[in-house]
Amino acid sequence: MQARTTMATVMGVVLVALVAVVSGQNCSLPDSDKVNCGHVGTTQAECGAHGCCWAPEGKNSGTPWCFYPAGGPVPGGAPFNATEVAMMRGFMRANLNIDNLGGVVASPDRNTPGGTYYWNWERDAALSMRMWYEHSDDSASNLAAMMDSYVQWVLRAQNQVDPNGIDIRAEPKYHLPNANVFTGGWCRPQDDGPALRSTTLILFATDLLASNSMSYVAKYLWTGSESHYHGGAIKYDLDYVAANWASDTCDLWEELRSNDFFWNRYNYYRALVDGAAFATKMGDSESAATYSAAAGKVLAALGDHWNGQFIQESSNRQKGASVICALNDAYMGSSVEANFAPTSSWVAATVNVLSATFTDMFKINTIDTQNGIPGVLYGRYAGDTYAGGNPWILTTAALAQLHYRAASEVVNVGKLPHDALPHYAEMFGESAESLGKLSVANFALRLASAGDGVLERIRYHVAGAGFHLSEQLDRDTGFEMSATDLTWSYANVLKAVAARDAFVVAYERMMA
Ligand SMILES: *[C@@H]1O[C@H](CO)[C@@H](O)[C@H](O)[C@H]1NC(C)=O
Ligand SMILES: *[C@@H]1O[C@H](CO)[C@@H](O)[C@H](O)[C@H]1NC(C)=O
Repeated sequence: MQARTTMATVMGVVLVALVAVVSGQNCSLPDSDKVNCGHVGTTQAECGAHGCCWAPEGKNSGTPWCFYPAGGPVPGGAPFNATEVAMMRGFMRANLNIDNLGGVVASPDRNTPGGTYYWNWERDAALSMRMWYEHSDDSASNLAAMMDSYVQWVLRAQNQVDPNGIDIRAEPKYHLPNANVFTGGWCRPQDDGPALRSTTLILFATDLLASNSMSYVAKYLWTGSESHYHGGAIKYDLDYVAANWASDTCDLWEELRSNDFFWNRYNYYRALVDGAAFATKMGDSESAATYSAAAGKVLAALGDHWNGQFIQESSNRQKGASVICALNDAYMGSSVEANFAPTSSWVAATVNVLSATFTDMFKINTIDTQNGIPGVLYGRYAGDTYAGGNPWILTTAALAQLHYRAASEVVNVGKLPHDALPHYAEMFGESAESLGKLSVANFALRLASAGDGVLERIRYHVAGAGFHLSEQLDRDTGFEMSATDLTWSYANVLKAVAARDAFVVAYERMMA
Protein backbone atom coordinates (compact mmCIF):
# COMPACT_ATOMS: atom_id res chain seq x y z
CA MET A 1 0.00 0.00 0.00
CA GLN A 2 2.69 2.37 1.12
CA ALA A 3 4.69 1.73 -2.01
CA ARG A 4 1.72 2.22 -4.28
CA THR A 5 0.82 5.52 -2.62
CA THR A 6 4.37 6.74 -3.00
CA MET A 7 4.37 5.59 -6.59
CA ALA A 8 1.12 7.43 -7.24
CA THR A 9 2.55 10.55 -5.66
CA VAL A 10 5.66 10.29 -7.76
CA MET A 11 3.54 9.79 -10.86
CA GLY A 12 1.50 12.81 -9.87
CA VAL A 13 4.56 14.97 -9.52
CA VAL A 14 5.89 13.74 -12.84
CA LEU A 15 2.57 14.46 -14.46
CA VAL A 16 2.41 17.99 -13.08
CA ALA A 17 5.94 18.60 -14.27
CA LEU A 18 5.09 17.17 -17.67
CA VAL A 19 2.04 19.38 -18.02
CA ALA A 20 4.15 22.37 -17.14
CA VAL A 21 6.78 21.46 -19.72
CA VAL A 22 4.26 20.63 -22.41
CA SER A 23 2.46 23.93 -22.03
CA GLY A 24 5.80 25.73 -21.86
CA GLN A 25 5.10 27.15 -18.43
CA ASN A 26 7.92 28.29 -16.22
CA CYS A 27 6.58 28.58 -12.70
CA SER A 28 9.91 28.96 -10.92
CA LEU A 29 10.20 32.68 -10.45
CA PRO A 30 11.09 34.80 -7.45
CA ASP A 31 8.17 35.68 -5.14
CA SER A 32 8.64 39.35 -5.92
CA ASP A 33 7.89 38.69 -9.61
CA LYS A 34 4.70 36.72 -9.02
CA VAL A 35 1.68 38.49 -10.44
CA ASN A 36 -1.69 37.46 -9.09
CA CYS A 37 -3.67 35.57 -11.69
CA GLY A 38 -6.53 34.37 -9.52
CA HIS A 39 -8.48 36.07 -6.82
CA VAL A 40 -9.63 35.19 -3.33
CA GLY A 41 -11.29 31.80 -3.56
CA THR A 42 -9.65 30.73 -6.82
CA THR A 43 -9.41 26.95 -6.96
CA GLN A 44 -6.53 25.00 -8.44
CA ALA A 45 -8.77 24.01 -11.37
CA GLU A 46 -9.72 27.63 -12.12
CA CYS A 47 -6.11 28.63 -11.81
CA GLY A 48 -5.05 25.95 -14.26
CA ALA A 49 -7.85 26.89 -16.65
CA HIS A 50 -6.34 30.37 -16.79
CA GLY A 51 -2.96 28.91 -17.74
CA CYS A 52 -1.50 30.03 -14.44
CA CYS A 53 0.85 28.51 -11.86
CA TRP A 54 -0.47 27.07 -8.61
CA ALA A 55 1.64 27.24 -5.43
CA PRO A 56 -0.63 27.37 -2.40
CA GLU A 57 2.28 27.37 0.04
CA GLY A 58 2.38 31.15 -0.46
CA LYS A 59 -1.19 31.45 0.70
CA ASN A 60 -0.61 33.03 4.08
CA SER A 61 2.50 35.03 3.31
CA GLY A 62 0.91 37.58 0.98
CA THR A 63 2.67 35.98 -2.00
CA PRO A 64 0.27 35.17 -4.82
CA TRP A 65 -0.44 31.44 -4.91
CA CYS A 66 -2.06 31.48 -8.31
CA PHE A 67 0.20 33.54 -10.52
CA TYR A 68 1.18 34.11 -14.12
CA PRO A 69 4.08 31.98 -15.36
CA ALA A 70 7.37 33.68 -16.19
CA GLY A 71 7.47 34.89 -19.73
CA GLY A 72 4.33 33.28 -21.06
CA PRO A 73 2.31 31.56 -22.38
CA VAL A 74 0.83 34.94 -21.85
CA PRO A 75 -1.81 35.94 -19.43
CA GLY A 76 -3.75 32.79 -19.18
CA GLY A 77 -7.27 32.50 -20.34
CA ALA A 78 -9.25 35.54 -21.37
CA PRO A 79 -12.20 36.43 -19.13
CA PHE A 80 -14.61 35.74 -22.00
CA ASN A 81 -13.90 32.65 -24.08
CA ALA A 82 -14.18 32.58 -27.87
CA THR A 83 -17.71 31.20 -27.81
CA GLU A 84 -18.86 33.93 -25.47
CA VAL A 85 -17.23 36.65 -27.57
CA ALA A 86 -18.93 35.22 -30.66
CA MET A 87 -22.29 35.30 -28.85
CA MET A 88 -21.86 38.96 -27.91
CA ARG A 89 -20.84 39.79 -31.48
CA GLY A 90 -23.99 38.09 -32.73
CA PHE A 91 -26.23 40.02 -30.34
CA MET A 92 -24.58 43.28 -31.37
CA ARG A 93 -24.79 42.44 -35.07
CA ALA A 94 -28.57 42.11 -34.76
CA ASN A 95 -28.75 45.80 -33.75
CA LEU A 96 -26.85 47.11 -36.77
CA ASN A 97 -27.99 48.00 -40.28
CA ILE A 98 -31.67 47.76 -39.42
CA ASP A 99 -33.72 46.71 -42.47
CA ASN A 100 -30.56 47.16 -44.53
CA LEU A 101 -31.01 50.93 -44.29
CA GLY A 102 -27.89 51.55 -42.22
CA GLY A 103 -29.43 52.61 -38.93
CA VAL A 104 -28.29 51.25 -35.57
CA VAL A 105 -30.86 50.56 -32.87
CA ALA A 106 -29.60 51.70 -29.46
CA SER A 107 -31.46 48.80 -27.87
CA PRO A 108 -34.37 46.79 -29.25
CA ASP A 109 -36.08 47.24 -25.86
CA ARG A 110 -39.33 49.15 -26.36
CA ASN A 111 -40.34 49.07 -22.73
CA THR A 112 -37.70 50.29 -20.29
CA PRO A 113 -38.47 52.50 -17.31
CA GLY A 114 -37.28 55.42 -19.45
CA GLY A 115 -39.55 54.44 -22.37
CA THR A 116 -38.58 52.86 -25.66
CA TYR A 117 -34.96 52.69 -26.76
CA TYR A 118 -35.97 51.77 -30.30
CA TRP A 119 -34.14 54.74 -31.80
CA ASN A 120 -30.95 55.44 -33.66
CA TRP A 121 -28.89 57.74 -31.47
CA GLU A 122 -26.35 59.61 -33.56
CA ARG A 123 -23.63 59.10 -30.91
CA ASP A 124 -24.28 55.42 -30.16
CA ALA A 125 -24.51 54.58 -33.85
CA ALA A 126 -21.22 56.30 -34.74
CA LEU A 127 -19.36 54.62 -31.87
CA SER A 128 -20.87 51.23 -32.60
CA MET A 129 -20.14 51.39 -36.33
CA ARG A 130 -16.56 52.39 -35.56
CA MET A 131 -16.08 49.42 -33.25
CA TRP A 132 -17.65 47.14 -35.85
CA TYR A 133 -15.51 48.51 -38.65
CA GLU A 134 -12.29 48.20 -36.65
CA HIS A 135 -12.86 44.91 -34.83
CA SER A 136 -15.57 42.83 -36.46
CA ASP A 137 -14.76 39.48 -37.99
CA ASP A 138 -17.08 40.06 -40.96
CA SER A 139 -15.70 39.39 -44.42
CA ALA A 140 -14.33 42.46 -46.18
CA SER A 141 -17.24 42.51 -48.61
CA ASN A 142 -19.90 42.25 -45.89
CA LEU A 143 -18.17 44.97 -43.95
CA ALA A 144 -18.01 47.26 -46.96
CA ALA A 145 -21.72 46.68 -47.63
CA MET A 146 -22.52 47.47 -44.00
CA MET A 147 -20.49 50.68 -44.12
CA ASP A 148 -22.12 51.70 -47.38
CA SER A 149 -25.53 51.31 -45.70
CA TYR A 150 -24.33 53.48 -42.84
CA VAL A 151 -23.06 56.14 -45.25
CA GLN A 152 -26.48 56.22 -46.93
CA TRP A 153 -28.10 56.51 -43.50
CA VAL A 154 -25.90 59.46 -42.57
CA LEU A 155 -26.66 61.21 -45.85
CA ARG A 156 -30.42 60.78 -45.31
CA ALA A 157 -30.06 62.04 -41.74
CA GLN A 158 -28.03 65.09 -42.76
CA ASN A 159 -30.05 66.10 -45.81
CA GLN A 160 -33.45 66.90 -44.35
CA VAL A 161 -34.94 70.10 -43.04
CA ASP A 162 -34.70 70.16 -39.26
CA PRO A 163 -38.19 70.25 -37.71
CA ASN A 164 -36.91 71.29 -34.28
CA GLY A 165 -35.30 74.60 -35.12
CA ILE A 166 -31.68 73.54 -34.62
CA ASP A 167 -28.92 72.44 -36.95
CA ILE A 168 -29.83 68.98 -38.23
CA ARG A 169 -26.32 67.67 -37.55
CA ALA A 170 -26.70 68.13 -33.78
CA GLU A 171 -29.96 66.22 -33.46
CA PRO A 172 -29.70 63.46 -30.86
CA LYS A 173 -31.85 60.73 -32.34
CA TYR A 174 -33.77 59.44 -35.33
CA HIS A 175 -36.60 57.08 -36.16
CA LEU A 176 -35.74 53.66 -37.57
CA PRO A 177 -35.48 52.52 -40.21
CA ASN A 178 -35.66 55.71 -42.31
CA ALA A 179 -33.67 58.33 -40.34
CA ASN A 180 -36.53 60.79 -39.85
CA VAL A 181 -35.66 63.17 -37.06
CA PHE A 182 -37.30 62.63 -33.68
CA THR A 183 -39.53 65.62 -32.93
CA GLY A 184 -40.41 65.13 -29.25
CA GLY A 185 -38.88 67.10 -26.42
CA TRP A 186 -35.23 66.14 -25.78
CA CYS A 187 -31.95 67.67 -24.72
CA ARG A 188 -30.65 69.51 -27.80
CA PRO A 189 -28.18 70.18 -29.31
CA GLN A 190 -25.81 67.23 -28.88
CA ASP A 191 -22.61 68.33 -30.51
CA ASP A 192 -20.55 65.18 -30.04
CA GLY A 193 -22.59 63.42 -32.76
CA PRO A 194 -21.03 65.09 -35.81
CA ALA A 195 -17.52 64.61 -34.38
CA LEU A 196 -18.00 60.91 -33.67
CA ARG A 197 -19.68 60.33 -37.00
CA SER A 198 -16.89 61.96 -39.00
CA THR A 199 -14.23 59.98 -37.13
CA THR A 200 -15.96 56.73 -38.06
CA LEU A 201 -16.45 57.74 -41.68
CA ILE A 202 -12.86 58.97 -42.03
CA LEU A 203 -11.58 55.51 -41.05
CA PHE A 204 -13.69 53.99 -43.79
CA ALA A 205 -12.85 56.69 -46.36
CA THR A 206 -9.12 56.47 -45.69
CA ASP A 207 -9.21 52.77 -46.47
CA LEU A 208 -11.24 53.46 -49.60
CA LEU A 209 -8.62 55.92 -50.83
CA ALA A 210 -5.89 53.37 -50.13
CA SER A 211 -7.75 50.83 -52.25
CA ASN A 212 -8.31 53.26 -55.14
CA SER A 213 -12.03 53.76 -54.51
CA MET A 214 -11.84 57.50 -54.98
CA SER A 215 -15.10 57.66 -56.90
CA TYR A 216 -17.15 56.47 -53.93
CA VAL A 217 -15.48 59.02 -51.66
CA ALA A 218 -16.07 61.83 -54.15
CA LYS A 219 -19.69 60.85 -54.64
CA TYR A 220 -20.73 60.72 -50.97
CA LEU A 221 -18.09 61.54 -48.43
CA TRP A 222 -16.07 64.45 -49.78
CA THR A 223 -17.71 65.77 -52.92
CA GLY A 224 -15.78 68.97 -53.49
CA SER A 225 -19.01 70.88 -54.09
CA GLU A 226 -21.25 72.54 -51.52
CA SER A 227 -24.32 71.86 -53.65
CA HIS A 228 -23.65 68.12 -53.66
CA TYR A 229 -24.40 66.74 -50.17
CA HIS A 230 -23.02 69.97 -48.61
CA GLY A 231 -19.52 68.92 -49.59
CA GLY A 232 -20.06 65.30 -48.49
CA ALA A 233 -21.00 63.46 -45.31
CA ILE A 234 -17.58 63.87 -43.71
CA LYS A 235 -16.96 67.50 -44.62
CA TYR A 236 -20.46 68.60 -43.57
CA ASP A 237 -19.97 67.14 -40.07
CA LEU A 238 -16.45 68.52 -39.68
CA ASP A 239 -17.57 72.00 -40.70
CA TYR A 240 -20.10 71.82 -37.87
CA VAL A 241 -17.44 70.78 -35.35
CA ALA A 242 -15.03 73.51 -36.47
CA ALA A 243 -17.76 76.15 -36.14
CA ASN A 244 -19.35 74.98 -32.87
CA TRP A 245 -16.67 73.42 -30.68
CA ALA A 246 -16.88 76.28 -28.16
CA SER A 247 -20.69 76.33 -27.88
CA ASP A 248 -22.98 75.00 -25.20
CA THR A 249 -24.17 71.45 -25.77
CA CYS A 250 -25.93 68.67 -23.87
CA ASP A 251 -23.63 66.04 -22.37
CA LEU A 252 -23.45 62.46 -23.62
CA TRP A 253 -25.97 61.34 -20.98
CA GLU A 254 -28.40 64.02 -22.21
CA GLU A 255 -28.88 65.61 -18.81
CA LEU A 256 -26.64 68.60 -18.48
CA ARG A 257 -25.54 71.64 -20.52
CA SER A 258 -22.10 73.14 -20.69
CA ASN A 259 -19.46 74.19 -23.18
CA ASP A 260 -16.62 72.38 -21.41
CA PHE A 261 -17.30 68.64 -21.44
CA PHE A 262 -14.10 66.62 -21.66
CA TRP A 263 -15.90 63.88 -23.61
CA ASN A 264 -17.01 66.40 -26.21
CA ARG A 265 -13.79 68.31 -26.41
CA TYR A 266 -11.55 65.29 -26.81
CA ASN A 267 -13.80 63.85 -29.50
CA TYR A 268 -13.89 67.23 -31.29
CA TYR A 269 -10.11 67.28 -31.13
CA ARG A 270 -9.74 63.87 -32.69
CA ALA A 271 -12.31 64.62 -35.39
CA LEU A 272 -10.56 67.88 -36.30
CA VAL A 273 -7.07 66.36 -36.39
CA ASP A 274 -8.26 63.38 -38.43
CA GLY A 275 -10.30 65.79 -40.54
CA ALA A 276 -7.36 68.07 -41.29
CA ALA A 277 -5.29 65.08 -42.45
CA PHE A 278 -8.16 63.81 -44.56
CA ALA A 279 -8.85 67.22 -46.10
CA THR A 280 -5.19 67.42 -47.04
CA LYS A 281 -5.45 64.04 -48.75
CA MET A 282 -8.44 65.38 -50.68
CA GLY A 283 -6.43 68.43 -51.77
CA ASP A 284 -8.58 70.82 -49.72
CA SER A 285 -5.95 72.88 -47.93
CA GLU A 286 -8.44 75.55 -46.90
CA SER A 287 -10.57 73.12 -44.88
CA ALA A 288 -7.43 71.49 -43.52
CA ALA A 289 -6.25 74.86 -42.20
CA THR A 290 -9.65 75.61 -40.64
CA TYR A 291 -9.78 72.25 -38.86
CA SER A 292 -6.17 72.46 -37.69
CA ALA A 293 -6.69 75.92 -36.24
CA ALA A 294 -9.77 74.79 -34.33
CA ALA A 295 -7.96 71.62 -33.17
CA GLY A 296 -5.17 73.72 -31.65
CA LYS A 297 -7.66 75.72 -29.61
CA VAL A 298 -9.50 72.61 -28.42
CA LEU A 299 -6.22 71.01 -27.38
CA ALA A 300 -5.35 74.03 -25.24
CA ALA A 301 -8.77 73.78 -23.55
CA LEU A 302 -8.30 70.06 -22.84
CA GLY A 303 -5.39 70.83 -20.54
CA ASP A 304 -7.72 72.83 -18.27
CA HIS A 305 -9.50 69.64 -17.21
CA TRP A 306 -6.71 68.63 -14.85
CA ASN A 307 -7.86 69.94 -11.47
CA GLY A 308 -4.77 68.92 -9.54
CA GLN A 309 -6.23 65.56 -8.54
CA PHE A 310 -7.91 64.08 -11.60
CA ILE A 311 -9.15 64.88 -15.08
CA GLN A 312 -12.60 66.31 -14.60
CA GLU A 313 -15.49 65.99 -17.03
CA SER A 314 -16.73 69.56 -16.72
CA SER A 315 -17.06 72.45 -14.33
CA ASN A 316 -20.59 71.32 -13.47
CA ARG A 317 -19.79 67.60 -13.25
CA GLN A 318 -16.40 66.70 -11.94
CA LYS A 319 -16.07 62.94 -11.41
CA GLY A 320 -17.29 61.27 -14.58
CA ALA A 321 -16.55 57.94 -16.22
CA SER A 322 -17.14 59.63 -19.57
CA VAL A 323 -13.55 60.82 -19.15
CA ILE A 324 -12.40 57.18 -19.33
CA CYS A 325 -14.52 56.65 -22.45
CA ALA A 326 -12.99 59.75 -24.06
CA LEU A 327 -9.45 58.65 -23.24
CA ASN A 328 -10.13 55.38 -25.08
CA ASP A 329 -12.07 56.72 -28.01
CA ALA A 330 -10.24 59.93 -28.80
CA TYR A 331 -6.58 59.42 -27.89
CA MET A 332 -4.40 59.27 -31.00
CA GLY A 333 -0.97 58.86 -29.45
CA SER A 334 0.72 62.08 -30.54
CA SER A 335 3.28 63.71 -28.26
CA VAL A 336 1.01 66.70 -27.59
CA GLU A 337 -1.44 64.31 -25.97
CA ALA A 338 1.13 62.88 -23.52
CA ASN A 339 -0.97 63.80 -20.47
CA PHE A 340 -3.78 61.65 -21.82
CA ALA A 341 -1.66 58.61 -22.64
CA PRO A 342 -2.89 55.41 -20.93
CA THR A 343 -0.12 55.38 -18.28
CA SER A 344 0.30 59.13 -17.75
CA SER A 345 0.15 60.27 -14.14
CA TRP A 346 -3.01 62.26 -14.94
CA VAL A 347 -4.76 59.21 -16.30
CA ALA A 348 -3.62 56.86 -13.52
CA ALA A 349 -4.71 59.42 -10.91
CA THR A 350 -8.11 59.71 -12.60
CA VAL A 351 -8.65 55.95 -12.67
CA ASN A 352 -7.68 55.79 -9.02
CA VAL A 353 -10.13 58.52 -7.98
CA LEU A 354 -13.00 57.12 -10.05
CA SER A 355 -12.41 53.56 -8.81
CA ALA A 356 -12.59 54.74 -5.21
CA THR A 357 -15.73 56.76 -5.99
CA PHE A 358 -17.62 53.88 -7.57
CA THR A 359 -16.39 51.34 -5.01
CA ASP A 360 -18.02 53.46 -2.31
CA MET A 361 -21.09 54.28 -4.35
CA PHE A 362 -22.34 50.75 -5.12
CA LYS A 363 -23.03 48.08 -2.53
CA ILE A 364 -22.58 45.40 -5.21
CA ASN A 365 -18.88 46.29 -5.44
CA THR A 366 -18.44 45.46 -1.75
CA ILE A 367 -20.44 42.25 -2.06
CA ASP A 368 -18.51 41.10 -5.12
CA THR A 369 -15.18 41.76 -3.45
CA GLN A 370 -16.30 39.80 -0.39
CA ASN A 371 -17.23 36.92 -2.70
CA GLY A 372 -13.82 36.94 -4.35
CA ILE A 373 -14.93 38.41 -7.66
CA PRO A 374 -12.12 40.68 -8.84
CA GLY A 375 -12.47 44.09 -10.49
CA VAL A 376 -14.79 47.03 -9.90
CA LEU A 377 -18.02 48.15 -11.53
CA TYR A 378 -18.18 51.76 -12.72
CA GLY A 379 -21.25 53.94 -13.00
CA ARG A 380 -21.61 57.14 -15.02
CA TYR A 381 -20.66 59.80 -12.50
CA ALA A 382 -20.63 60.60 -8.79
CA GLY A 383 -24.16 61.40 -7.66
CA ASP A 384 -25.99 59.72 -10.56
CA THR A 385 -29.62 58.99 -9.66
CA TYR A 386 -31.03 57.88 -13.04
CA ALA A 387 -33.00 54.65 -12.46
CA GLY A 388 -31.62 54.72 -8.93
CA GLY A 389 -28.02 55.33 -9.99
CA ASN A 390 -26.36 52.07 -11.01
CA PRO A 391 -23.21 50.56 -12.48
CA TRP A 392 -23.16 50.71 -16.28
CA ILE A 393 -21.62 47.97 -18.40
CA LEU A 394 -20.25 50.37 -20.99
CA THR A 395 -18.30 52.54 -18.55
CA THR A 396 -17.01 49.50 -16.67
CA ALA A 397 -15.82 47.93 -19.91
CA ALA A 398 -14.13 51.23 -20.79
CA LEU A 399 -12.06 50.90 -17.62
CA ALA A 400 -10.97 47.39 -18.66
CA GLN A 401 -10.04 48.70 -22.10
CA LEU A 402 -7.96 51.46 -20.55
CA HIS A 403 -6.09 48.97 -18.33
CA TYR A 404 -5.24 46.81 -21.38
CA ARG A 405 -4.15 49.87 -23.34
CA ALA A 406 -1.94 50.83 -20.41
CA ALA A 407 -0.44 47.32 -20.37
CA SER A 408 0.32 47.56 -24.09
CA GLU A 409 1.84 50.99 -23.68
CA VAL A 410 4.22 49.74 -21.00
CA VAL A 411 5.33 46.96 -23.35
CA ASN A 412 5.66 49.29 -26.33
CA VAL A 413 7.55 52.00 -24.46
CA GLY A 414 9.70 49.39 -22.71
CA LYS A 415 9.86 51.10 -19.34
CA LEU A 416 7.79 51.62 -16.23
CA PRO A 417 5.70 54.81 -15.95
CA HIS A 418 7.56 56.18 -12.93
CA ASP A 419 5.47 59.34 -12.51
CA ALA A 420 2.31 57.29 -12.27
CA LEU A 421 3.59 54.66 -9.82
CA PRO A 422 2.19 56.31 -6.67
CA HIS A 423 -1.29 56.13 -8.24
CA TYR A 424 -0.87 52.52 -9.31
CA ALA A 425 0.44 51.70 -5.83
CA GLU A 426 -2.84 52.91 -4.34
CA MET A 427 -4.85 51.14 -7.00
CA PHE A 428 -3.10 47.80 -6.46
CA GLY A 429 -2.60 48.15 -2.71
CA GLU A 430 1.20 47.83 -2.94
CA SER A 431 4.05 50.19 -2.33
CA ALA A 432 5.32 52.30 -5.21
CA GLU A 433 8.78 51.11 -4.31
CA SER A 434 7.96 47.43 -4.83
CA LEU A 435 6.06 48.18 -8.03
CA GLY A 436 9.08 50.12 -9.24
CA LYS A 437 11.23 47.02 -8.94
CA LEU A 438 9.07 44.96 -11.28
CA SER A 439 10.28 44.10 -14.75
CA VAL A 440 8.52 45.76 -17.67
CA ALA A 441 6.85 42.43 -18.46
CA ASN A 442 5.56 41.93 -14.95
CA PHE A 443 4.36 45.47 -14.57
CA ALA A 444 2.47 45.11 -17.85
CA LEU A 445 0.95 41.88 -16.54
CA ARG A 446 -0.19 43.70 -13.41
CA LEU A 447 -2.12 46.13 -15.58
CA ALA A 448 -3.52 43.44 -17.86
CA SER A 449 -4.69 41.41 -14.90
CA ALA A 450 -6.43 44.52 -13.56
CA GLY A 451 -8.24 44.63 -16.92
CA ASP A 452 -9.06 40.94 -16.61
CA GLY A 453 -10.44 41.52 -13.13
CA VAL A 454 -12.83 44.18 -14.41
CA LEU A 455 -14.06 41.99 -17.27
CA GLU A 456 -14.40 39.05 -14.86
CA ARG A 457 -16.70 41.13 -12.68
CA ILE A 458 -18.85 42.03 -15.69
CA ARG A 459 -18.84 38.41 -16.82
CA TYR A 460 -19.95 37.22 -13.42
CA HIS A 461 -23.09 39.35 -13.69
CA VAL A 462 -23.99 38.67 -17.32
CA ALA A 463 -23.27 34.94 -17.67
CA GLY A 464 -26.64 34.08 -16.11
CA ALA A 465 -28.42 35.96 -18.89
CA GLY A 466 -26.49 34.09 -21.57
CA PHE A 467 -24.14 37.03 -22.30
CA HIS A 468 -26.89 39.39 -23.34
CA LEU A 469 -25.69 42.80 -22.18
CA SER A 470 -28.07 45.35 -20.79
CA GLU A 471 -27.38 48.99 -20.04
CA GLN A 472 -27.04 48.76 -16.25
CA LEU A 473 -26.42 46.36 -13.37
CA ASP A 474 -28.44 46.76 -10.20
CA ARG A 475 -26.43 48.71 -7.61
CA ASP A 476 -27.33 46.25 -4.81
CA THR A 477 -27.75 42.87 -6.49
CA GLY A 478 -25.71 43.16 -9.70
CA PHE A 479 -28.56 41.80 -11.81
CA GLU A 480 -28.85 43.23 -15.28
CA MET A 481 -31.39 46.01 -15.58
CA SER A 482 -32.76 48.80 -17.77
CA ALA A 483 -32.51 48.57 -21.58
CA THR A 484 -31.70 45.06 -22.80
CA ASP A 485 -29.12 44.29 -25.49
CA LEU A 486 -27.68 47.79 -25.44
CA THR A 487 -25.52 48.17 -28.55
CA TRP A 488 -23.07 50.49 -26.81
CA SER A 489 -22.54 47.90 -24.02
CA TYR A 490 -21.54 45.33 -26.64
CA ALA A 491 -19.33 47.84 -28.43
CA ASN A 492 -17.37 48.67 -25.29
CA VAL A 493 -17.00 45.11 -24.03
CA LEU A 494 -15.81 44.01 -27.47
CA LYS A 495 -13.38 46.94 -27.61
CA ALA A 496 -11.95 45.80 -24.27
CA VAL A 497 -11.61 42.27 -25.65
CA ALA A 498 -9.82 43.66 -28.72
CA ALA A 499 -7.50 45.74 -26.51
CA ARG A 500 -6.66 42.59 -24.54
CA ASP A 501 -5.89 40.71 -27.75
CA ALA A 502 -3.62 43.56 -28.85
CA PHE A 503 -1.82 43.41 -25.51
CA VAL A 504 -1.28 39.66 -25.82
CA VAL A 505 0.27 40.16 -29.26
CA ALA A 506 2.57 42.93 -28.00
CA TYR A 507 3.53 40.92 -24.94
CA GLU A 508 4.30 37.76 -26.89
CA ARG A 509 6.40 39.74 -29.35
CA MET A 510 8.40 41.19 -26.46
CA MET A 511 8.92 37.81 -24.81
CA ALA A 512 9.81 35.98 -28.04
C1 LIG B 1 12.10 30.72 -15.27
O1 LIG B 1 11.97 32.13 -15.09
C2 LIG B 1 12.92 32.64 -14.17
C3 LIG B 1 12.53 34.10 -13.92
O2 LIG B 1 12.36 34.79 -15.12
C4 LIG B 1 14.31 32.46 -14.72
O3 LIG B 1 15.25 32.98 -13.81
C5 LIG B 1 14.56 30.99 -14.96
O4 LIG B 1 15.80 30.81 -15.59
C6 LIG B 1 13.47 30.40 -15.84
N1 LIG B 1 13.65 28.97 -15.92
C7 LIG B 1 13.56 28.29 -17.07
C8 LIG B 1 13.70 26.81 -16.99
O5 LIG B 1 13.38 28.87 -18.15
C1 LIG C 1 -16.96 28.81 -23.35
O1 LIG C 1 -18.11 29.40 -22.80
C2 LIG C 1 -19.30 28.67 -23.01
C3 LIG C 1 -20.44 29.54 -22.50
O2 LIG C 1 -20.17 30.10 -21.25
C4 LIG C 1 -19.20 27.34 -22.30
O3 LIG C 1 -20.37 26.60 -22.49
C5 LIG C 1 -18.01 26.58 -22.87
O4 LIG C 1 -17.82 25.40 -22.16
C6 LIG C 1 -16.75 27.41 -22.81
N1 LIG C 1 -15.72 26.75 -23.60
C7 LIG C 1 -14.51 26.49 -23.12
C8 LIG C 1 -13.56 25.85 -24.08
O5 LIG C 1 -14.16 26.80 -22.00
